[in-house]
Parts: sequence; structure tokens; C-alpha cells
Amino acid sequence: MSAEVRIKRLTVTDIMARKGQAPLVCLTAYTAPVARILDDHVDLLLVGDSLGMVIYGLDTTLGVTLDMMVAHGAAVVRATTKACVVVDLPFGSYQASPAAAFAAAARVMSETGCAAVKLEGGAEMADTVAFLVQRGVPVVGHVGLTPQHVHRLGGFRAQARTKSQADRLVADAQDIANAGAFAVVVEAVPEGAARRVTEAIAVPTIGIGAGAVCDGQILVTDDMLGLFGTFTPRFVKRYAELGEAVSGAVAAYARDVQARNFPGPEHQFKAIE
Ligand code: KIV
Repeated sequence: MSAEVRIKRLTVTDIMARKGQAPLVCLTAYTAPVARILDDHVDLLLVGDSLGMVIYGLDTTLGVTLDMMVAHGAAVVRATTKACVVVDLPFGSYQASPAAAFAAAARVMSETGCAAVKLEGGAEMADTVAFLVQRGVPVVGHVGLTPQHVHRLGGFRAQARTKSQADRLVADAQDIANAGAFAVVVEAVPEGAARRVTEAIAVPTIGIGAGAVCDGQILVTDDMLGLFGTFTPRFVKRYAELGEAVSGAVAAYARDVQARNFPGPEHQFKAIE
């Protein structure tokens, strides 16, 4: 976010205009209370389908439904006034055809009030991106490690590590950008590959595990706050250990309850004489 106090919500065109400018600050958000806290500090909030793993305890994002994305997307939009809110299209809601993608995106946009949707994939999704953009749906692309392809990729692993794979990554990002995407997430690739993508496309790149060269950065908020204990990718920097803080607070509560130290007199209602 820029230094001056921002009072109006950032738009898709504001985000596009940040290409090559001050880096975009982006995080995921899934719930109203967290989104409310993040809103003062970020340019873009992504209601990512990572919520399937972070909130619902799924092993992958493949079980996430459109209903889940709509419910969490609407909560995040309601709780915020400044950030540009983007909602992920979940697996199975957009791959079958451009028309299916439009139906899913239209539902997400009309029922959440978000500014844009994100979808995963490269050249094979270019026609779909163009179809959506021509019909008024702003789209963020997502290349590199695309978690909805976890089985085809053989796991959540870094991508584009060889020259020919990096060439493919650049071509995929160019196809998506040329189709009209207003930003492209680049996940889990070497910095050199992310630099090539950033130089090759005219819209902002938003990196996650892609080095410092991108036009912006995004992390899964629960990862950087130390709240998602199952697995922390090596590209995550932990800015807090909230999991430990929560555990300590709950242990103190349990001790108080067991010792009848809670509730104290200040937490109780007085009878009316
Ligand atoms: O689902 C998600 O949270 C994402 C980010 C990790 C970019 O796609």
C-alpha cells in the first residue's frame, strides 16, 4: 500500500497501473475478522482456494466448491473497504468450457461483490480468459506451481527449473496476459524464470516462492502468521508465531477453569436487589 492514507477501494485498473512501480502487497483472506485486520495494510486480498487446506483441513484444493468460495468471498468483501478483492474459481468450475467458466465467475462476482476472479493454467486457459474478459469479468492468471494440477505435477513441487520448462512458463504467462488477464500469479519457480516472465508481460506479476523480482508478492496469511501447522513451504517467512500464542492462551484458560479461577467476579452478572 502507498504511504498516503487510502480511503477508496483499489480497482483492477489501479492494480494494473502498478506494473514496474512500487511492489503490490497481497495476502490471502478467508474470513471477515482477519480480512478487516489485513485491509489497512494490503493492496489486494485473495480469497484463495487454499482455504480448502487451511480452513477445512483438506489435503489438496481439489475438494473446494463454488459454494465455499462464494461464502468466504462475500465475508471478505463485507469486511473490507480498501483492498481489491479477488476470489479463486475452484477446481471443476471453469475447466470444461469458457461458458462454464463464465457461469461460475458471474455467480462469484454477483454473490460476493469481488472485483475479479483468479484461475489456474497457461496456454490451455487463454481462450477462457479472453471469453471472460470480453464479458466483463476481470481475471488474474496463475502459472508455475498450480495446486489444482497437484496430481499431474506429482506433488506440490517447484516448477520451471530447467531452461525449456522456463521457456514454457514464459509462453504460458504471455498467452494468459495477451488474452486479457490484468495480473498473473507466479508460484514456486526460480527467480530467473520469474524475472523472464515479469519482463515478458505488460501486466503485474505477483510472486509466491518466485523471488523478489515480481511486481508484487503474495503469501498465505495463515502460513506467515504461524497458524497453519501442517506444512510450511520454504518460501514462507514467518512474521509471527500465532499458533504458539493461541496454544498458550488456551492452556491458561484451561488451568483457570480447572482451578475455578475463571470466571472472576468481574465476569459475572449481579443480581438485581
Ligand atoms: O489459493 C491460494 O491461496 C493461492 C495463492 C497461494 C496464490 O492461489
